[in-house]
Amino acid sequence: MNTIHSGKKAAALAALNYLEEGMLVGVGTGSTVNYFIDALASWRDRLQGAVSSSEASTARLRAIGIEVIDLNRAGDLALYVDGADEVDPHRRLIKGGGGALTREKIVAAASRRFVCIVDPSKQVEVLGQFPLPIEVIPMARSYVARRMVGIGGHPVWRENLITDNGNQIIDVHGLSITDPLTLESTLNDIPGVVTVGLFAHRKADVVLIGREDGVIELT
Ligand code: 5RP
Repeated sequence: MNTIHSGKKAAALAALNYLEEGMLVGVGTGSTVNYFIDALASWRDRLQGAVSSSEASTARLRAIGIEVIDLNRAGDLALYVDGADEVDPHRRLIKGGGGALTREKIVAAASRRFVCIVDPSKQVEVLGQFPLPIEVIPMARSYVARRMVGIGGHPVWRENLITDNGNQIIDVHGLSITDPLTLESTLNDIPGVVTVGLFAHRKADVVLIGREDGVIELT
């Protein structure tokens, strides 16, 4: 296993410390979360179940015998565990590299504590080196892309990807996101935008960074 994957796994295992007996846990999406899901097997009989942020995570959770519950039936959650594409020192995130940003943002919003699990390659001082994913209604894709050019970005359509919600994704390159709160609000206001992959308003409460010398906890 290379150092990136061992960092992902170390962070994922550290997130098990946030679980409590009888919990209904929110589960994100991606390769880091997959380590967390695999480790949840040892918690199967002690959890009420999980609320999932994607069809992929749902299938993986079910495969190890964890019941997946619809968020509409679950109410607010005590804990959400998910990865990220970038993390800044204030625990604000870029997410959506795996295309699951909309459901991830909903489950994060419905959770009292968001624990983000990453390897050190995800740490940045200023968000925006990773292209910002934006989920759009298909007919609005070119319109939203032109608006992104208007703010100095370089939008690229993630072709061949339809999200779990039947939408499309554009990845916006070249943004230096010095004010993520304002940018998130501004982009949310563009007609046709479903979800912006900036998690600044609902940022992580805890970031666990799996480093070679141990797991660092940012709070
Ligand atoms: C999926 C996400 C993921 O959390 C993000 O892409 C990180 O993925 P990985 O854990 O595979 O590095 O936001 O939409």
